[in-house]
Amino acid sequence: MKFFVDTADVDAIRELNETGMVDGVTTNPSLIKKSGRDILEVTKEICAIVDGPVSAEVTATEAGAMIAEGRKLVGIADNIAVKVPLTWDGLKACKALTDDGHMVNVTLCFSANQALLAAKAGATFISPFIGRLDDVNLDGMDLIEDIRTVYDNYGYETQILAASIRTVNHVLQSALIGADVMTAPPAVIKAMVNHPLTDKGLDAFLADIKAANIKIV
Ligand code: G3P
Repeated sequence: MKFFVDTADVDAIRELNETGMVDGVTTNPSLIKKSGRDILEVTKEICAIVDGPVSAEVTATEAGAMIAEGRKLVGIADNIAVKVPLTWDGLKACKALTDDGHMVNVTLCFSANQALLAAKAGATFISPFIGRLDDVNLDGMDLIEDIRTVYDNYGYETQILAASIRTVNHVLQSALIGADVMTAPPAVIKAMVNHPLTDKGLDAFLADIKAANIKIV
């Protein structure tokens, strides 16, 4: 499973990248706002750190303007994936930009039918929002499962990018279903390492190291 980091925090990306956990980055207008940085400047910095796809979202809502913004965004670096919303205009922009050979991430997906449209428009990534479905008492994992089935039924190559991941269980469930990619905030990725038995076992080993004065260097 590919791991994308869902943040525009350059320091957090750099830190996780050193562990080999970063296959790409996703940003959105809310994350850019949170960073307090200029979108073009911070996106360029992220692209210089990470080799994989870096999603940068358009601000326009009309297809022509989205395409123009997308063409500007792909000029930042070779690894930009243009992020467009799942609207008819977004799908038009997706088709035009992927026809030009660019990566496109279609975002704000909340149904398998929407995902089917995105695949037909040539999307590189489809971003179903798990956490936001859970927020309204629906099961985000049902959506991942449905999209996996639909895409496999017809051999669509659009990659399922499980987004709006809020918990470590969201990561595990997405992986079990077979999402190609997941994007999560740095804190969720870091929390995946936690296990009380690991801590307990390490405490016992450390006590024995001290008691037996075990030294390596
Ligand atoms: O990748 C999309 C993600 O940033 C949305 O997450 O937690 O705002 O629903 P959230």
